[in-house]
Amino acid sequence: MRIRIDYTNMLESAVGAKGIPESELALYPERGRAALEGLRAKRDVIRWRDLPYNQKEIVAKIKAVAEKVRESAEYFVVLGIGGSALGPIAVQQALNHPRYNELPREKRNGPKLYVEDNVDPERMAALMDVIEPEKTVFNVITKSGSTSETMAQLLTVMRLLIDLYGEDALKERLIATTDREKGNLIGIAKKYGLTTFCVPEGVGGRFSEMCPVGLLPAAVCGIDIEAMLDGAAYMDKLCDSDNVFENPALMYALLETSAMKLGANIGVLMPYADSLKYFSDWYAQLWAESLGKKRGEARFGQTPVKALGVTDQHSQVQLYTDGPFDKTVTFLGVENYRTVFTIPHAVDENPNVAFLSGHTFNELISAERRATEHAVTVSGHMNKTILLPEVNANTIGQLMMLFELATAYAGEILGINAYDQPGVEEGKNMTYALLGKKGYEAKLGEMKENSARRTV
Ligand code: PA5
Repeated sequence: MRIRIDYTNMLESAVGAKGIPESELALYPERGRAALEGLRAKRDVIRWRDLPYNQKEIVAKIKAVAEKVRESAEYFVVLGIGGSALGPIAVQQALNHPRYNELPREKRNGPKLYVEDNVDPERMAALMDVIEPEKTVFNVITKSGSTSETMAQLLTVMRLLIDLYGEDALKERLIATTDREKGNLIGIAKKYGLTTFCVPEGVGGRFSEMCPVGLLPAAVCGIDIEAMLDGAAYMDKLCDSDNVFENPALMYALLETSAMKLGANIGVLMPYADSLKYFSDWYAQLWAESLGKKRGEARFGQTPVKALGVTDQHSQVQLYTDGPFDKTVTFLGVENYRTVFTIPHAVDENPNVAFLSGHTFNELISAERRATEHAVTVSGHMNKTILLPEVNANTIGQLMMLFELATAYAGEILGINAYDQPGVEEGKNMTYALLGKKGYEAKLGEMKENSARRTV
């Protein structure tokens, strides 16, 4: 069940002048060794690598809490944003029924799941229209314990629950996932006796799917979290190999950073599976927020673009073939879809349509992926394919660890800090200032100075 990367079409030998030359590949062993050593020396910020190995007790607690929720709740609502939301969304879409929330309870693996990762007032109001508070358990997730979006949602939910059922009910209906010590949520959780899970030290938001941030919502929805962790462990070991040509994450990082030097400042991820649609959102945050950095005057990063096969063949692929050489395309292919769906016979008298009959949708989507890969390759654009034998808990664990490690290795190769997000913090701080948080008055001044707008 190992996932593999086919990188043939990243190379000059396949795509021509705009590909990576053999002379660059020859540098990979040395460059790779430096990245491996650099990452090995950074244990304190890559504790997420330990998660597949060190959570036996936590997994037991998660499963116990999840079982209780599954028995009592019809709705499980995650309040969180960024790294506290994108993993749970991606995993749910990958591993549960594509129309999970629409299924009747007996066909669902758990309560309906809503992950509220925005503060659009219309969305907040809409949530209130669809849930029944007496059958709902909320999970507020914030590593920092201070993000305005999540705190605003928390206030809304606490008010609702206190008004309806009193303060004592909070511990039955609200679960907190946050830092052990830092931030505001831990204090609130202690005060109201909430069931609490911790985001471990050295596990940044966008690297936190394999800790309670992602594991609790997954377990509540019946996903085999141990299989996810097994997959992550398996990939972690592969990606520790000193041989770059046997180390998928290191190879991915070396290829993409070479491509960046060749001007490919855009990294398209194009899964050929609806189940992996939101994996692209998770990837986009990981890749953008980790690698979009400056070092002195030098600027780094590769803009992630999300595309879905085959849907976006009919919207974006024209650009990927005839457009500028400013991107790489990574296809995510699936060997065995979990369903086989045959295209029936209906108009056998018309051979221009009837040729499809008797084939399966499985054959069609795979043929379209291979055909698009061909079109992108012959147009001279670098691309690669990550092939999953099947989408299941183990391969999703593998895929997530692969991308986390590729991001970390790319950070080493680029010589930047992949684990901070100063640009995001700047926006968070200005939000505090605009909404009158104490201590941020000076920050507000900064914005006023810049407030001369030109509009048309
Ligand atoms: O990767 C990150 O650290 C960020 O994207 C965070 O996940 C995001 O800003 C939300 O932060 P928090 O979990 O602290 O509320």
